[in-house]
Amino acid sequence: MSEPNRDAAPGVESVTDMHRALMTQMNDPVMLTAAGDDTTGDERGDEPGAGGSDSVQGMHQMLMREHAEPRDGFEPVPFWVAVVCGGLLAWGGYYIGANSADFRRDVYDRADLKDVPPPAGPVVEPNPRTVDDLKRIGEQKYQTICASCHGPEGKGQPAQNIPPLDGSEWVAGDQASAARLSRILLYGLNGPIPVKGRTYNGAVMPQQGNVLKDHEIAGVLTYVRNSWGNKADPENAKPTITADEVKAARTKEGARKPNGTQPVNHDELLKLPLTYSDTGTSAAAPKK
Ligand code: HEC
Repeated sequence: MSEPNRDAAPGVESVTDMHRALMTQMNDPVMLTAAGDDTTGDERGDEPGAGGSDSVQGMHQMLMREHAEPRDGFEPVPFWVAVVCGGLLAWGGYYIGANSADFRRDVYDRADLKDVPPPAGPVVEPNPRTVDDLKRIGEQKYQTICASCHGPEGKGQPAQNIPPLDGSEWVAGDQASAARLSRILLYGLNGPIPVKGRTYNGAVMPQQGNVLKDHEIAGVLTYVRNSWGNKADPENAKPTITADEVKAARTKEGARKPNGTQPVNHDELLKLPLTYSDTGTSAAAPKK
């Protein structure tokens, strides 16, 4: 302590008084009690190694006790660590709360789902079996696709080299078979073809196998074979061409793209005997 300081604090005579004054200023109840109470001071003076609260050693001892140095592993946690941990905890709580699915057992335990039926498999193609069903499907397809070329009444457009279907020998006459008709529809037709005494050539019949399903082709063929003047099955007794036959022809021919001869032609059709059947189950004999 230097002289000017001592002068600046009159009445302060000892180090103990100085400490006491400082403690008073800091309003520290522990220090005030320990240092200001005579009884306590006397008691502390009895402790071994203690010089009494009035001594410098006693004061320092108390100071050291009150502010123990942190030990390894017990350092105070930095403020930012506490903030980060608190933030993580809050986020974790929110995440669990938002995604726990109410902690329902069936959400996590797949065994509880073993009775649920499996999702529906691939859609099964319809396979209409009666003439009326096939004609109903076929008429709708004919009017939206074929009629623009062959006419709503199947008369064709001879001026445009589009042959008629009504009365054509290829539809329900002596050149007609399921195998031939399936191929005309699946892949289209190109080159000269005689229909009702006239040879049509120059226009191409586009393939329908990419826009119509097998049962729709069977339907449109059954429709044209039993409409207008055509009577392939006068009694409407049994389907004249079925989806199975179209499907068999498509399987046998494939996509026909590699060899570049997508549409069939007259010669190709003639190479298919009228008794030939792709399904092999029945001879598709033509019917007048
Ligand atoms: C873009 C016009 C066009 C459309 C659409 C079309 N055809 Fe054709 N079709 C033709 C042409 C042209 C020929 C003749 C091809 C030839 O000269 O080689 C033909 C030939 C045919 C033949 C054989 C010849 C005959 O007259 O009997 C049949 C059967 C036939 N088409 C049925 C159909 C059916 C059924 C549809 C509907 C699914 C259809 N066509 C859609 C233009 C078309």
